[in-house]
Amino acid sequence: MTREVVQALNVQVDGTYVDATFGRGGHTRAILSCLGPAGRVLAIDRDPEAHRCAKQMSEAESRLTFVQASFSELFEMVNSHGLVHRVTGLVLDLGVSSPQLDSHERGFSFNGDGPLDMRMNPDMGQSAAEWLNTVTEERLRNCLRELGEERYSRRIARAVVAARASRPLSRTLELADIVAHVVPSREPGKHPATRTFQAIRMQVNQELGELKSVLPQALSVLEPGGRLVVISFHSLEHRAVKQFLRQSASGDRYPPDLPVTHDQIRPAVKILSKPLRPGQQEIETNPRARSAVLRAAEKTGHADS
Ligand SMILES: C[S@@+](CC[C@H](N)C(=O)[O-])C[C@H]1O[C@@H](n2cnc3c(N)ncnc32)[C@H](O)[C@@H]1O
Repeated sequence: MTREVVQALNVQVDGTYVDATFGRGGHTRAILSCLGPAGRVLAIDRDPEAHRCAKQMSEAESRLTFVQASFSELFEMVNSHGLVHRVTGLVLDLGVSSPQLDSHERGFSFNGDGPLDMRMNPDMGQSAAEWLNTVTEERLRNCLRELGEERYSRRIARAVVAARASRPLSRTLELADIVAHVVPSREPGKHPATRTFQAIRMQVNQELGELKSVLPQALSVLEPGGRLVVISFHSLEHRAVKQFLRQSASGDRYPPDLPVTHDQIRPAVKILSKPLRPGQQEIETNPRARSAVLRAAEKTGHADS
């Protein structure tokens, strides 16, 4: 949805943009192509492979600065570059990148065998294997149900705990097989372990916590009139973004019985258009885009007062 991102950001030639999910730099490249010599992009990603890619790109592109960090540290990163309240637009394209999914060594996918890792930054936190080999059955079940919306969470959690009793889990295909044995393959074209892998990935990378932490920070680093664009992929992400924007657009809260005039309500953002979904053509060339939803909002002058 690169074209839609650039449009929603309404990129200004001399603007300052933050791409908080650099990946392989598709959005950064598109933004840079609209900028003049005074424009700049601060890009962030926690993945060391994204860092390598950005390093190469920034050798030939002085308008690009990259920081390897979690986007929950956004305010600090932006502040250390002297850009608080000076960001013209910020994009968050959530979830995993195609290179992360396609590299079996990263352990995100059941399409090939690899170590059961799934960390976006493999130098931080617990790997999926470490988590799965120590988590209680109940917590695993809740994780599968909540983050994976997995109907068979009970069966899967029981099977994982039984399997690890004889030998710790360590490989992606091992986990995929355990799941496939207890889950009927009910959705055509979808591996029975799809929801399990998604839930564990979201757990290992604390994806919802990261998102809830970055949204208010994103708003506070923007300049008045600056734009926030978020692409989410999962119903819990859609909900978190929608609720945050709705609340920010509804303005200051007053007791219901207090007489308040319209100009006292002071919304922090204006929501721009309805949520956008990718077109059929994009879904055909990139089936992973099918659940994407783009939301955009503009910061008002009230937000920092
Ligand atoms: C869907 S991809 C972005 C693809 C990118 N727009 C492009 O054009 O290549 C999401 C990226 O965000 C990164 N990411 C996800 N959560 C993050 C977080 N909490 N902090 C920093 N980076 C994160 C992932 O490592 C991944 O590279």
